[in-house]
Amino acid sequence: MSSAGVVPLLGRVATAVSEAIARVRPETADADPVVRRSDRADFQSNAALPLAKSVGTPPAQLGGELAASIDRAQGVIADVRVSGPGFLNITLADSAVWESVAARLTDERLGIPATEDGRRVVIDYSAPNVAKEMHVGHLRTTIIGDSLARIFEFLGADVVRANHLGDWGTQFGMLIQYIDEHPESPWHTEELDADTSSVSALDTLYKAARAQFDADPEFADRARTRVVALQAGDLDTVARWREIVAESEKAFGAIYDRLGVLLTPADYVGESFYNDQLADTVTELVDKGVAVDSDGAVVVLSEQVKGPDDKPAVLMARKRDGGYGYDSTDLATIRYRIASLHADRLLYVTDSRQALHFQLIFEAGRRAGWLTEAIQVDHVAYGTILGPDGKPFKTRAGGTVRLMDLLDEAVARVRAVVAEKNPDLASAELDTIAEQAGIGAVKYADLSTSRVKDYTFDPVRMTSLNGNTGVYLQYAHARVCSILRKAGTTMPAEIDANVPLEPAERELALVLDGYGTVLDEVAEALEPHRLAGYLYELARAYTAFYDSCPVIPAEEPIRSNRIALCQLTARTLELGLGQLGIAAPRRM
Ligand code: ARG
Repeated sequence: MSSAGVVPLLGRVATAVSEAIARVRPETADADPVVRRSDRADFQSNAALPLAKSVGTPPAQLGGELAASIDRAQGVIADVRVSGPGFLNITLADSAVWESVAARLTDERLGIPATEDGRRVVIDYSAPNVAKEMHVGHLRTTIIGDSLARIFEFLGADVVRANHLGDWGTQFGMLIQYIDEHPESPWHTEELDADTSSVSALDTLYKAARAQFDADPEFADRARTRVVALQAGDLDTVARWREIVAESEKAFGAIYDRLGVLLTPADYVGESFYNDQLADTVTELVDKGVAVDSDGAVVVLSEQVKGPDDKPAVLMARKRDGGYGYDSTDLATIRYRIASLHADRLLYVTDSRQALHFQLIFEAGRRAGWLTEAIQVDHVAYGTILGPDGKPFKTRAGGTVRLMDLLDEAVARVRAVVAEKNPDLASAELDTIAEQAGIGAVKYADLSTSRVKDYTFDPVRMTSLNGNTGVYLQYAHARVCSILRKAGTTMPAEIDANVPLEPAERELALVLDGYGTVLDEVAEALEPHRLAGYLYELARAYTAFYDSCPVIPAEEPIRSNRIALCQLTARTLELGLGQLGIAAPRRM
C-alpha cells in the first residue's frame, strides 16, 4: 500500500505547460495549464487564451511562445502545435507512453497513489429496518455505499462502515406486545432458521401489529407501556427484542452475502447503540444554546432553512414526552463519529428525500462546534428505482418488491443469456457465472447511473451483452483473459519502448493511464458512475485495439508490447469492477 504512484501522463504534460508559462510570463507562473485529452492530438492546452487577456499579448502569439518553450528534452513531449486562436495540440513521445504502461504493469497498485492515506472516512450505508424485509429501497444505499467503501479503502483511507440499522423505537413495543398476545403466531411455532422465512414471518406480524395498534386504542396503550419497559431495560422485553434483532440481522447477512457487499456483523451499529448517548447529546446542545425548549420539547431551530410556513425548519432533539426519535439519533451519530471515531470525512448514503434532514443535522453539528472546517461531511443522496410504469417500483399487487426476488430474476435471466452463448458450459459453472453476472448486472445498472437520478429497473436491458452493462464488461474482461491464456505467460510482459505506437494502441494506453485520475474524481464527487463510465470507455478502447492489432500472431517485440497492453487492461478491468463490488470471472 505504499506506492508513491506513477504520475499520469496528463499530469506530466500539465507540469511541462506550467513550466513553460513560468518561463515565458513569470508574473503568471501559477496560472492553470488547462490540459485535457483531445481528438486532434494526445492532449490539448487552452492556457494561452485566458492568459493572453491578462498579460495583453495576442493569444496566437502567446501560444507560439509557449509552444516554443515547452520542454521536449525530457522525452515526454514529442510535438507541440498551435492551432486556431492559440490552442496547443500536444503529442507525446511513443516511448513515454510505452514506459507508462510498463511502470503501471509492474506496480501492484497499477501505479495509483494512495491519495486518501491516513484519513478516516465513516460511511453510513444500507441501514435496513429490523423486523422488516429488505426491499428494493435498500438496494441503492447498499451498493453505492459499498462501492465508495471499496474505493476509499483502495485509496488508503481508514474506512469505518456504519450500518445504522433501524433497531430501536416505539414500533418494537408494539411488535413485542403483539407477539406476546398471540402465542399461536409463527414467531412461537415455526423453527427459526437462517433463511429469510422467519423475517417474512416478522414482517407479517409487524403489519398485523401495526393494524391492531391503529384500530385498538387499548392495545396501543399496552404497546406504549411495552416501549417504556424496553427502554427501562425490562429483562423479558429486552430478551425478546434481542431475538427479533438477531433474526433480522441473520436475514440481512444472507442478502449481504449474496450481494457480495463488505458489511459484516461487526458493522451493525444500529440506532440502539446511541441510546445511552442521547441524553448527553441533548444536554450539550442545550448548554451550547443550539437547542431550545419549545412547549416542553427540545428542538433545534434552523438559522438557514425555513419550512413551508416561513418558520425555521426544526429538528426534534427530544419529544415532549421525553422520548427520542430519528432526529435525536442522528444528532448523536454526528457527535459520536467526530468526537469518538475521529472521522475526517463522514458520508451518509440515503435517498434524496432525506436531504433536508441531513442539512439540518449538519447545520446543528456546525453550530455545536463538532463539525469544523477540517471535517468534510456529505449526504450521498440518490434517486428512486422506478418500475416499468415509470412509478416507484412496486410488485404487481402494489406491495414492496423483496430484494431477494429481484436478484433471483436477474440471475435467471443472465443464466439464459450465458447458456445460449456458451452451450458447452457445465451446469455448476453456469450457475456460478450466472450468479456473478446476474448480481453484477443489478449492481452495474445502478452504479452506472448518476446517483441523483431516478432509473428504471429493467432486467432485460441490464443483462444485455451489448451496451453499457455489467455483463458486457465482464465479457470484455473474460475475452482479454482468454487471449492471455493463449499467450501462455503470467509474468508481466517485457516492453520495448522503441516500438512505434499504432493509433489504437496509443488510445488504449492513454485510457489505461487515466484510471487513477478517475478514482480521485470518484472520491471527490462521491460518484461511482464515473468509474463505471471509465471502465466502459476502457472496454471499448480495448475492443478497437483488438480489432486492428493482432496480438498472438504478431512478431516480437510488437507481440510482447501488445501482451503487456492486454495484461494491464485485464488488471484494470478486474480492479475497477471489484471497486464497484462486481466480480470479474476469467471465463464466461
Ligand atoms: N433506517 C433508515 C431508513 O430505512 C436509514 C438510516 C440512514 N442513516 C442514518 N444515519 N439516518 O430509511
